[in-house]
Amino acid sequence: PSNATVGEKEIVVAEVLGFCWGVRRALEIVRNAARERPVAALGDIIHNPIVVEQLTREGVLPVTDPVEAKRHGLDRVAITAHGAPPTRYQEASVYDLEVIDTTCPLVTKVQRLAQKLALQGYFLVVYGDAQHPEVRGVLGWAGTERACAAKSFDDLPWDGPRGTGAMQPPPRKVALIAQTTKRTDEFTAFAQALAAWVLPHGGELRVVNTICQPTWERQEALARLARTVDLVLVIGGRKSSNSARLVEVSRSLGTPSVLVERPDQLDPALFAPVRRVGITAGASTPDEVILAVIEELVRLGFAPPQRLWRDDDPDVEEFAD
Ligand code: F3S
Repeated sequence: PSNATVGEKEIVVAEVLGFCWGVRRALEIVRNAARERPVAALGDIIHNPIVVEQLTREGVLPVTDPVEAKRHGLDRVAITAHGAPPTRYQEASVYDLEVIDTTCPLVTKVQRLAQKLALQGYFLVVYGDAQHPEVRGVLGWAGTERACAAKSFDDLPWDGPRGTGAMQPPPRKVALIAQTTKRTDEFTAFAQALAAWVLPHGGELRVVNTICQPTWERQEALARLARTVDLVLVIGGRKSSNSARLVEVSRSLGTPSVLVERPDQLDPALFAPVRRVGITAGASTPDEVILAVIEELVRLGFAPPQRLWRDDDPDVEEFAD
């Protein structure tokens, strides 16, 4: 149902979007700490530049490593919501820095799982981006050379002799997990491709889908919306993995999609021919940014949306273990 009159330009908002509880929790932890005295953050607490700027003003100062934290005279370092490898915690302790840990509890679960699978002798494949802090952290917890990150089958490290295009047989025991913010459909396809390589060699493949609930809920809500609109606008940080996946979900369903970080990035020419625009936002995008983008669309001639998103994130306590 729509409240737009005939011929009016419409905004349709995804049922679920924006901040996940893991992000809200991370922000609460680091803000509480910064209220006492400034704290150093080992990277972006969450991948949204607007939030990172706000946090810096509140006393959460980005640093590249514990040495820099020390140089600034700070005595505490915050681990970001994406988590970090054990070496980060060790470095902090070597420099006598207290750790404020904002790692999402779901990422912690994946780290523990990676460690367990490695101990059980599996070669660990993490379906994800090798450069992403979450994946670097998870591989660090696996703590073994017998692990890799792979975005596609070609990234697997079992190449045969150079230039032959052939592959070596896979290890006997392989386990597959995912970066929490990947696409579920692509993870399934990757798992199938891996099974088709490992199983005929007589190997064992253990697959655990570790994509988090907020991620797939946002993807599914967008999939329901994408086919009904002319363009999908994803609001999220450029470095945000889950926001990038939302753009892909829309495009894979045949609906053009663009990513913006803030309202001043909306290109009026792009929206001139659009009659129905769909809105979604990554798990690290604050409500006020989503609302500001909607306001800007209204300024560009769209009718205000009839309803906004529902807040269905579970209570953090439910996940404490
Ligand atoms: Fe955690 Fe998933 Fe959010 S891993 S930070 S709940 S996107």
